[in-house]
Amino acid sequence: MNDARLADRKAPGVPADSTRSEWVVLKFGGTSIASAANWRLIAELLDRHLKAKRRVLVVHSALAGVSDRLHAVLRNSVGDDTGDALQQIREQHVELAAALGLGSGFTLDDLFAELSQLVAGIRLVREVSVPVRVQIMALGELMAGRIAAAYLGACDLPVTAIDARELLTSRSERHANRERNFLAAVCDYAYDEQMRTRFAGLSPLIVTQGFIARNEQGDTVLLGRGGSDTSAAYLAARLGAQRLEIWTDVPGLFTTNPRQIPSARLLLSLRYDEAQELASAGSSVLHPRSLSPLRRSGIPLFIRCTNAPDLPGTVISAVTEETGSQLKGICLRSGLTLISLTSAGMWHQAGFLARAFAVFGELGVSVDLVSTSETNVTVSIDTADGVLDKVIREALVADLSAICRVRVIDDCAAVSLVGRKIRTIMPRLAPALEVFEEERVHLVSQAANDLNLTFVVDAEQGPRLVAKLHSSIIPAAGGSAAFGPSWQSLFAGDDNDVVPRAETWWSRRRDELLSLAAQQANAYVYERETVRQAARGLKRLASIDRVLYAVKANFNPTLLRTLDREGVDFECVSPGEVRWLEETLSDFDLARVLFTPNFAPREEYAWGLKKGLLVTLDNLFPLEAWPELFAGRRIAVRVDPGQGRGHHEHVKTAGIHSKFGIPRFEVAALKRLVAQAGATIVGIHAHSGSGILDPDNWHKVAAELVQVAQEFPDVEFIDLGGGLGIPEKPGDRPFDLAGLDALLTAFRAQHPGYGLWLEPGRYLVAQSGVLLTHVTQTKGKGDMRYVGVGTGMNSLIRPALYGAYHEIVNLTRYREPATMSATVVGPICETGDRLGSDRLLPDCREGDVILVANTGAYGHAMSSRYNLREAAPEIVI
Ligand code: LLP
Repeated sequence: MNDARLADRKAPGVPADSTRSEWVVLKFGGTSIASAANWRLIAELLDRHLKAKRRVLVVHSALAGVSDRLHAVLRNSVGDDTGDALQQIREQHVELAAALGLGSGFTLDDLFAELSQLVAGIRLVREVSVPVRVQIMALGELMAGRIAAAYLGACDLPVTAIDARELLTSRSERHANRERNFLAAVCDYAYDEQMRTRFAGLSPLIVTQGFIARNEQGDTVLLGRGGSDTSAAYLAARLGAQRLEIWTDVPGLFTTNPRQIPSARLLLSLRYDEAQELASAGSSVLHPRSLSPLRRSGIPLFIRCTNAPDLPGTVISAVTEETGSQLKGICLRSGLTLISLTSAGMWHQAGFLARAFAVFGELGVSVDLVSTSETNVTVSIDTADGVLDKVIREALVADLSAICRVRVIDDCAAVSLVGRKIRTIMPRLAPALEVFEEERVHLVSQAANDLNLTFVVDAEQGPRLVAKLHSSIIPAAGGSAAFGPSWQSLFAGDDNDVVPRAETWWSRRRDELLSLAAQQANAYVYERETVRQAARGLKRLASIDRVLYAVKANFNPTLLRTLDREGVDFECVSPGEVRWLEETLSDFDLARVLFTPNFAPREEYAWGLKKGLLVTLDNLFPLEAWPELFAGRRIAVRVDPGQGRGHHEHVKTAGIHSKFGIPRFEVAALKRLVAQAGATIVGIHAHSGSGILDPDNWHKVAAELVQVAQEFPDVEFIDLGGGLGIPEKPGDRPFDLAGLDALLTAFRAQHPGYGLWLEPGRYLVAQSGVLLTHVTQTKGKGDMRYVGVGTGMNSLIRPALYGAYHEIVNLTRYREPATMSATVVGPICETGDRLGSDRLLPDCREGDVILVANTGAYGHAMSSRYNLREAAPEIVI
């Protein structure tokens, strides 16, 4: 068993199949429960869970801002000034209760009175004892709990309120001081059959407070920072819940702090260890402590946004399809203090480290990062708020100075790269690490678990470094399946307004699609208007003279006619494609075809030339072996622009590892052979790959091709190929056509002698198509959950062949929140027969209609009858 597996083992006593538990635990943070509007969303959400026959335990925090105000009350009550904060706390609760329509029967007066009494007591003695501090802080959760229970009851939901102190008992940690046992208590979270049985006899909806518990003596205790998440995790583990959902004010974990770097990408799925590492390295959404109970019990955690429940969120579980290395995030922790210990004498000296660390231990200072050299040991100090107490600091320096030279470096920041198998990522990180060239790095530490690589630098450099590293390592779009939309695409600059994704044609025409699906087991459905609009977009480009459609992407007759009508010409790779056009389009003029065979037999070139097609050569061989074919002919040549690009290795069609194109070093030979054959080169052509989103690609290709064109006096056009990508994931930005046009317009101004052509396939048809199928069966196998659908790689091979990402939605339950993470598989006898991995979906039932988006290009065109299962037929609407 490897380390990861060991770490993910189940806690003793957890029911073997916790995914079958009837319980789900939902935790709502302070912002989520602070407004009446959110409470309405919460009630709807709970209602849906109950209707689906699940039992729900709700754990909530105090209303947003209340804990801070209670802190202010505590601070101020030692003096005389508490009026404001107390008043604000009261108003906040009263206003919310009123907005929720909680009538005259509802009161919080007893709790307000208790608060006032506690404050009066403090004023008397001018001191706050730890238990009193705890009682005051606990009131925030108790007040919110009262509102929660009353409102949900008023919504006619079958709710029982239970005081969290009846549910969670803390144990005193031997090593912790009394204060810690009261303020950051730890509870047991072993599976508790008794609790489950007790709850089974109650209503299916239970509400309890987060953050508070009781110790063995019966005193109230707190669970520390992030305590409500921890409560929810404890309770989920105790109940053996099927999952925990944490509903908060952000949609999940991001690749970095999105408020600082809006291009941060939502992390759709993480393993427990990765999430733990991100949380510890400074990501503030989740407290690291809340993960262990879940991880030990194998309970998946879903992080969701209360006021944007449609957003996919982050799921944290032991499941992931990825086996390779991957960088998941870049975190910044500032306010760090470093202690650098230098001594020439430590070289080969036994016991130095032990003596040094004994000093830290005696003073109760916990060490976080360590790096050592022969003469220096540098450590970072782990304090709750990053600041080292003055007295302790002086003692530390005095004691350590007895054994070595000591330097304290304040105001540092730790920049951590977090991801699995970080060691193997290192070579890929190399260019990004150039950012450290001008910075002083105080300490570098690579975590023993291979999940974290940390650089400690001066605090002021931190944010800049994170920004630079993020932009050079994390792709703005696409990339790993774990990366979702960026913050900016979700929130468009305004932190509070969630911008819904651009509406897709298939969500607009959902009803129509559902009725088509009622008549067809599986079908590709294309919307003609989408194709039309894509064609018009390209035809409008000022810099482009001719748009040719790469027929290979989709040869559906109706779509070909649509493109024909929009004035698009055609690129064909085989005689079959040319003949198909002749059959499909009436009065088809063959002058509209660019024929681009690759490693084809002699007859095909002879056939194409005889038909009068403009033929492209992408090898010298035809000119060497069959020069007679080309005598007196006007031809184009496909040049290898050197650099291949694209969404996958298989679709990079340039560079030395690709079979396409004549390399630049053969241009002299080409010139000679063309002259010998008596042919004329009228066009230079290239296609560097498929699924490229960077508009600069075609400009770079143009710059490369123009140099070749200049060698041939008769060249009239430069064909820049296709390859224009489309947004794949919700939140991906669309292809920047205006950017492309601007770059190519500038190019034309410099090289006015050449016409420019483009020959896209995907761009014109991909978004017009969806694959509809139905859920056949579902399965939970260990940690994996599968949703089976009626057709798989026989209809759509792209996910299996390229790991391509296609959005998958349950069209029957389109607006329902996702409640599970599943791999969507077809009926073909191959393990690779999957349409999507780790997808967040609502509970899928047999017969639900599943839609696979963006399948208009290379979908049906690459389908087969493998297993003698017919590929999905095509319908155009
Ligand atoms: N021109 C030439 C010479 C090509 O080889 C191709 C595609 C295109 C144009 C159109 O490329 P597009 O604009 O569609 O990216 N089956 C793969 C794509 C292979 C593309 C091969 N050549 C996929 O499903 O992603």
